[in-house]
Amino acid sequence: MVKKNAPASPCYLLLANIGQLLTLRGESAPRRGRALSEIGIIEDAAVLCGGGKILAAGPQRELLRDPWLKTNRKKVQELDCQKRVVIPGLIDCHTHPVFAEPRLVDFEKRISGAGYEEIAAAGGGIRSSVTAVRRLSRGELSTKVLTALNAMLEQGTSVVEAKSGYGLTLEDEVKSLEAIRDAARHWPGEVVATLLAAHVVPQEYAKKPNEYVRMVCDEIIPLVARKKLAQYVDVFCERGAFTQEQSERVLAAARKYGVGTRAHVCQFTAANLGPLLQHQPASLDHMDCVQPEDISLLARGDTVAVLLPGANYFLGHSNYPDARRLIDASVPVALATDYNPGTSPTPSMPFVISLACTHMKMSPAEAIAATTINAACALRLQARKGSIEAGKDADLAVFDVNDYREIAYWFAWDRCDRMIVAGQPAWSRG
Ligand code: NIG
Ligand code: FE
Repeated sequence: MVKKNAPASPCYLLLANIGQLLTLRGESAPRRGRALSEIGIIEDAAVLCGGGKILAAGPQRELLRDPWLKTNRKKVQELDCQKRVVIPGLIDCHTHPVFAEPRLVDFEKRISGAGYEEIAAAGGGIRSSVTAVRRLSRGELSTKVLTALNAMLEQGTSVVEAKSGYGLTLEDEVKSLEAIRDAARHWPGEVVATLLAAHVVPQEYAKKPNEYVRMVCDEIIPLVARKKLAQYVDVFCERGAFTQEQSERVLAAARKYGVGTRAHVCQFTAANLGPLLQHQPASLDHMDCVQPEDISLLARGDTVAVLLPGANYFLGHSNYPDARRLIDASVPVALATDYNPGTSPTPSMPFVISLACTHMKMSPAEAIAATTINAACALRLQARKGSIEAGKDADLAVFDVNDYREIAYWFAWDRCDRMIVAGQPAWSRG
C-alpha cells in the first residue's frame, strides 16, 4: 500500500486512531449533483505522510500491516487522533484580507436599516476602506494579512485565495499583492493571490470610469503579470461597480497577459453569464441571483459557482444563494468565507459550512465537499489539494468531534483541534 519510492530521509508522520476519515477520494474533478455527497468515509482509519505528501490512507488495520511501515516504524512519528474526525485541510477559495480596519460605521448604519449599496453610494462601502490601505506600508498590510491567515488556519483552513482590491492605484494594488506574498512566506499553508483592481471605481475616477478600466487593463494587469504577483484577475461585475461590458474588458486583458480569471457576479442583480463564461473563469462568485437559462450553461462547464453565505448573514439578508437549485442542476458548487471588512468579517470555514446547511439546505456532506475538493477545483488545484489520497499534498484538519456532521452542527464553537500542513504539524489548540 505504501509507495516504495518514498523519499530517503523525510520526516514521516502517521495519524493513527482516526474515528472517521473523510477522504473525498475519487476523480479530481468538480463534484456535481449526487456526487457532491460522496465524501469517502473510512472508520477507524490511519494516514501516513512523508515528504509533504500523503503516502497512504485507509483502514488502520490494513495500513499497519504494510511491510514498509513495519520495518520503518522507528522513523515514523505517530500522532494519536483519539477517535476524532480527520478531513482534508479546508480551502477558502475567496477572501479579501488586505485591509486596514473594520468598517464599524457601515455596520451600525446597516443595523439602523440602511442597505449595503445605499451606504456605498453615500461614500461608505469599499471606497471607505481604500484611504487606510493607501496609507499603510507593505509591511503593515502584510502583518494584517498574516493575522487573518493564522486565524483561518486555526479554523481548519490550509489553502487561501487572497485578493487585493482596496488600493485601486497601480502602486497600491502592487503593494497589496506584495503584502499577500510576504505574509504567505510566513504561513505554512498555500496562498493563491488574485488581483482585484476592478473592485470599484475609485473616487478620483468617479466621473471617468472607463479611464479607470483602461488603466486596469493596460497598466495594472500587464505589470502584475510581469511581476508574477497574481495567479488570477477578478472583477466586481455589479450595479455600482463595473458593468458587464467593462468586466469583460478586464477579463479579456487578464487572458491576454496569461493570468487566470474569476468574477464577483450576481450578488445583488442578475447578469448575463454567457459572455463572462467565454473568458473561462475558474469560478463565478456570489451567484445569489442566477438566471434560470444560465444554470444549464454552468452545468455544462467546469467553472465553479462559489457561494458566500457569510456575506448574506452579515448583511442581514433573509435570502441566500439557491444552492439546492444549482446542485440539483449539476452545477459544480464551492463555499468560501469572503473574508472582508464590508460584508463578511469571518475567518471561519466551519461557520460557512454551518450556514450552508441551515440556510441553504446543503447536507453536511455536500458542504464539506464544497469546501475541500470543489474549492480546490475553484482554484484549479485539484491535482494536489482537496482530498486525502496517496500522492496528494498532506494537508489535514483534525476536528475534536466524533462524527463529521458535528462540524456543521456546533456553530460559533471552534472545534478544529490540530492542523497538519505539507505533512508537518502546523498548529494545535492548547
Ligand atoms: O465579496 N462584493 C464585492 N466585494 C466584497 C465586499 C467588499 C467590501 O464591502 O469591502 C464581497 O462581498
Ligand atoms: Fe468577495
